[in-house]
Amino acid sequence: MTREMPKERGIDHTFNLLTEGYNYIGKRMSEKDTDIFETRLLGKKMIVMTGRDAAELFYDETKFKRSGALPIRVQKTLFGVGGVQTKDGQKHRVRKAMFMSLMTDERLGLLRAIVKEEWERKGREMERKGKAVLFDESEELILRAMCRWTGVPLTDVESWNRAYDIGAMIDAAGGVGKRYKVGEDARVRTEDWMEEVILAIREGRLQTEEGSAAHVMAFHRESGELLDLHMAAIELLNVIRPAVAVARFVSFAGLALHDFPEWKDKLQTQKELNNFANEVRRFYPFTPFLGAIAKKDFEWDGYEFKEGDAVLMDFHGVNRDPRLWDEPEQFNPDRFNDFVDDRFNFVPQGGGDPNHGHRCPGEPVTVIIIEESVRYLTGSLEYEVPDQDLTINMVRMPTLPASRFVMDRIRVKENKSAE
Ligand code: HEM
Repeated sequence: MTREMPKERGIDHTFNLLTEGYNYIGKRMSEKDTDIFETRLLGKKMIVMTGRDAAELFYDETKFKRSGALPIRVQKTLFGVGGVQTKDGQKHRVRKAMFMSLMTDERLGLLRAIVKEEWERKGREMERKGKAVLFDESEELILRAMCRWTGVPLTDVESWNRAYDIGAMIDAAGGVGKRYKVGEDARVRTEDWMEEVILAIREGRLQTEEGSAAHVMAFHRESGELLDLHMAAIELLNVIRPAVAVARFVSFAGLALHDFPEWKDKLQTQKELNNFANEVRRFYPFTPFLGAIAKKDFEWDGYEFKEGDAVLMDFHGVNRDPRLWDEPEQFNPDRFNDFVDDRFNFVPQGGGDPNHGHRCPGEPVTVIIIEESVRYLTGSLEYEVPDQDLTINMVRMPTLPASRFVMDRIRVKENKSAE
């Protein structure tokens, strides 16, 4: 027996999505007391889903595909046109394996060491400035670290401008008008930069370590052929760009340390640091939702899906779902002590198995950057948090504390306790 899908009445709800942001889906799910509803967005029928089981459905490759699901405007700013995010089946698996090959224990250990060093340097820079914005400093720091880790040359002269460009690409994902245009232009400049790097590696003018992302992208072959230069550039940027986005989590971590200072004393062990990083990823808003397209007609939980139906999966909602999390609105890193991850119940970077589906391959990179940032902020730096607007605008996607977290009277501690 099939049942009727709850529907949002009206001609089109794009305006509501843009003006309600992260709250758009959750509000309708609670009002309608449902995990699924049909609406119209950008003039098209859209099935919106939330909850753990819907996340599992979303990652069922026999039922959904990604090609055709990503609006071209998101590809032209955030992801790059035609990259791994838009592929399906065997083509996706081959491309994805290239990303997964970067995440060995050895390479990740190297990344941790680099991020630690970059924080030492950044701490001294921030001490000299006295006052600094954590979000901006983190973007630049992460870009430096990622360029070292991936094998991309970056000079001191260009690092701030490059970081700004990558930040603009990320910010443009949910933007219109000028915000979108700035991001689109930044992507063109940054892809040109990545193309120069790939070309220099292929022509032997630039030496890179085997196993580093730049080396891997430059020499990766599909059906015996090297990736087209532009595609290799897009995929190299698919490693660097999302890591720069971790600056958002770093500023949220700064905010968490400020708003919930009791946790500062509970960051002595690696496990405690890891719990803290995971709670930052769960608690603060980042990925709101993702889209896919039904590959065939099927029924799920009594609801009918038709081939070609577009769906939107509510990732933000799963991380705050009271059926999965006790007191989800409380910031409580200890919840991760006995948390059992079933791949669909904690989805800040997507769900399922990253080797097979589209789940983010960069979760270990993200966690390392957050952990090392929190370790440095709490163990090695003294600072004050002056009066500022720390509100998180839930309409803007992706969002941030309004002031981007300003720190004042910054000093590097003489005796570092959290090494
Ligand atoms: C701020 C931290 C990050 C967030 C919130 C994030 C989030 C996501 C999300 C939601 C997806 C899509 C999952 C899906 O389509 O089902 C994704 C995919 C991806 N992420 Fe991340 N990510 C982050 C960091 C990283 C890092 C550090 C890297 C690389 C080192 C990375 C590389 C990628 C790639 C290549 C994909 C495409 C995977 C595919 O389509 O198979 N991400 N990420």
